[in-house]
Amino acid sequence: MKDNLAAKKKIDELTDAVNYHNYRYYMLEDPVLSDYEFDKLVEELTELERKYPQYAREDSPSKRVGGAVSEKFAQVKHNIPMLSLDNAYSKEEVVEFDKKIKRFLDYDMDGNIEYECELKFDGLAIELIYQNGIFIQGSTRGDGVTGEDVTANLKTIKTIPLKLLKDISYLPVRGEVLMDKENFKRLNKERLKEGLPLFANPRNAASGSIRQLDPKITAQRNLIMFAYGIGKYSKEINFKTQFELMNLLKSFGININKNMMVANGIKGAVNFFDEAGEKRESFPFEIDGVVIKVNDVFLQERLGEISKSPRWATAYKFSAKQDVSVIEDIEVSVGRTGILTPVAILNPVNIGGVIVKRATLHNQDEIDKKNINIEDRVLVERSGDVIPEVVKVVLKGKRSGAFNLPNKCPCCGSEVVIDGAARRCMNELSCPCQIKGAIVHFASKRAMDIEGLGERIVDRLVETGLIKNVADIYYLKPGDLSKLEGFGEKSEENLFNSIEKSKNISYDRFIYALGIRHVGEHIASLLVRYFGNINGIKSATVQELSSKFGIGEEIGSSIYNFFRLKSNIDVIERLFKAGVSPYINIVKPGESNLIAGKSFIFTGALNDFTRDEAENLIKERGGIIEKTVKKSIDYVVAGEGPGSKYNKAVKLKLKIIGEDELKSLTKS
Ligand code: IVH
Repeated sequence: MKDNLAAKKKIDELTDAVNYHNYRYYMLEDPVLSDYEFDKLVEELTELERKYPQYAREDSPSKRVGGAVSEKFAQVKHNIPMLSLDNAYSKEEVVEFDKKIKRFLDYDMDGNIEYECELKFDGLAIELIYQNGIFIQGSTRGDGVTGEDVTANLKTIKTIPLKLLKDISYLPVRGEVLMDKENFKRLNKERLKEGLPLFANPRNAASGSIRQLDPKITAQRNLIMFAYGIGKYSKEINFKTQFELMNLLKSFGININKNMMVANGIKGAVNFFDEAGEKRESFPFEIDGVVIKVNDVFLQERLGEISKSPRWATAYKFSAKQDVSVIEDIEVSVGRTGILTPVAILNPVNIGGVIVKRATLHNQDEIDKKNINIEDRVLVERSGDVIPEVVKVVLKGKRSGAFNLPNKCPCCGSEVVIDGAARRCMNELSCPCQIKGAIVHFASKRAMDIEGLGERIVDRLVETGLIKNVADIYYLKPGDLSKLEGFGEKSEENLFNSIEKSKNISYDRFIYALGIRHVGEHIASLLVRYFGNINGIKSATVQELSSKFGIGEEIGSSIYNFFRLKSNIDVIERLFKAGVSPYINIVKPGESNLIAGKSFIFTGALNDFTRDEAENLIKERGGIIEKTVKKSIDYVVAGEGPGSKYNKAVKLKLKIIGEDELKSLTKS
């Protein structure tokens, strides 16, 4: 083979890179490459080493099984290497695994291989050596060939027997050490209190607990162990299948998990995987898939192993939830309520079989907390059907600091205000991104009550450009609507009728319909009561708005800001110009009734009115509806089956009236 200095250099570079990323993954548990990118590096290195074996370095990752040996414990050489498993992520890959086995064994392709199926525990692989039935040494898997001596720590685990029920001269048991979900949560809670760094998942917590220098700490962690096989064994034990082995281990007093089965053919193994997926959440510990093993030990021997993993077994894994990618851009979208949502545009990454191109960054506070910017390398998580999210930065890009959301709404260009953790566009009535939500609310039953103007039609009206804000509803022309698909003349006529009817509406419903942030029906009616009309509300200061009826500064400012925006005022003026003329129910000077200015609260059911109707009767006469019982309330209207409000009213000695008295008050 010819010397090739370029190849040697490349092999050196790749070896260093793979070792570094292995270290980040296994030791720091903080990878900066996606699984895909890492696999590509390994593939490139393996290919070059195959061509130029003379350049393969001693520390080449191809000479390891993975993992790393830590310095702080004595080293233990495994009698036979602890292998790893090949992974499958889809049914197709599992079926291919079955076919390969049949081809290798020269089996009938239509025949069935017997598979023993187990859960794939997501913990830390260990080996336990029993001599004459006594547990004498335990070690971690390490790099597969050499592990760490963690005997003292393993002895603290209650599911590891210190003495077997049978006196076997030599037995190396292999299994997984886990921390269950309960203990994981508890441990992190304690660490949070103590200001210690949290464990990212139960696997890391188990690993950290086993590699403690003080076994007393390990003992407090309540770890568990499930065995799944053995290393080199003595002839004293006899078994023909993996299933028999598992039961044998159990008979020796070794802990195995009961969720296992023998399937005749790969179909049954796939079913086992599906069922494990369904039960996954209900298991007290974490699993990351199932392990499918050829049951017959004789066949296992024939199949042997290939590049550090047995040919006779595969790990059928659940979809991965996280991977690393680079943020190429940050897009800011505006939701129906005006909140600006930053979305990371990612270099596409395959997370558990789904290509993820976008992930939410939530809001400015989250961006600041995680110090995220464009060009950063980030960890992305996708779980279930929820929108993928950026978990953290793993490597900063060229831009220092965090991304800042714009000061102007990207949808309409108007000023953005800080609203807690969020940034919000206040142009509620005209911002194209908020308009659909605003119109649906405006037309809703408790607001302007425009029958027939629901979400579906609003979507179409906005999309076709027929309406751009709520005032445009009143400028629709005959024929506009019947142009829309599925909108007949009759439905157009009906809609025009309800639009017309809505022009005559009470003032508090009109204020409520405007959709001012924080202004529900109750505050709307208070505003009308105290400030009279739009002009009164518009000219009130934040101080007046906040203090008049104790709504607080946040709501006061929201109302104040709404009326500072010219586009909102324009819309209101156009509404009035179109003929919307809300009527005021408060008593005019010289008039009087017994309800105006009085506060009411309802409890129990009325006979002749619904709650809404009764409340409207009061509001129309200038009364105020309260929702909680307090000393200042003038009348408690008690219907049938009154609730706790009634008892409280009695205690406070408030005036309690019935339906008949209410009726006579309204007739005043
Ligand atoms: S059998 C020869 N069975 O998965 C293969 N492994 O990548 C020996 N694991 O390091 C493994 N649950 O720690 C086997 N029921 C199970 C398992 C299991 C978890 C882990 C094991 C190993 C890794 C393979």
